[in-house]
Amino acid sequence: MIALGCDHGGFVLKEEIKKYLDSKSIPYEDFGSLDGASCDYPDMAVAPCEAVVSGRCQLALLFCGTGIGISMAANKIKGIRAACCSDYFSAKYTRLHNDANVLCMGGRVVGPGLATEMVEVFLNTPFEGGRHARRVDKLMALENR
Ligand code: RB5
Repeated sequence: MIALGCDHGGFVLKEEIKKYLDSKSIPYEDFGSLDGASCDYPDMAVAPCEAVVSGRCQLALLFCGTGIGISMAANKIKGIRAACCSDYFSAKYTRLHNDANVLCMGGRVVGPGLATEMVEVFLNTPFEGGRHARRVDKLMALENR
């Protein structure tokens, strides 16, 4: 199950990505915004991230205008490793090396074609482990400082 969330700046791109997920029969839960009305990205990050932390969803896709604000909010939630990406390489390597569990994108930054390819590679790339596991462990330990 994939968790989705957005503010008004990411609403249109989130709806585009839902078309892709539907076409691949990938199940998702949309935590809103459901109408694109003005709202605050810190509020919109919480429910989809909590769904990931609880294990109800495996990964989350979050959207705001730049992808930055919602990624900052997501990374405040314990257990979340959110990556704000606007290129294919980063979307792939943040799974391979960082074991990112949230991909954030900007609806005012990336178009639907690139965003769809980024989502596809993010959802289908496993964490590489090995030396990267040590680094991710150290990263998560920073939460307890
Ligand atoms: C909303 O206008 C905009 O600031 C927000 O979507 C996002 O880009 C913040 O980082």
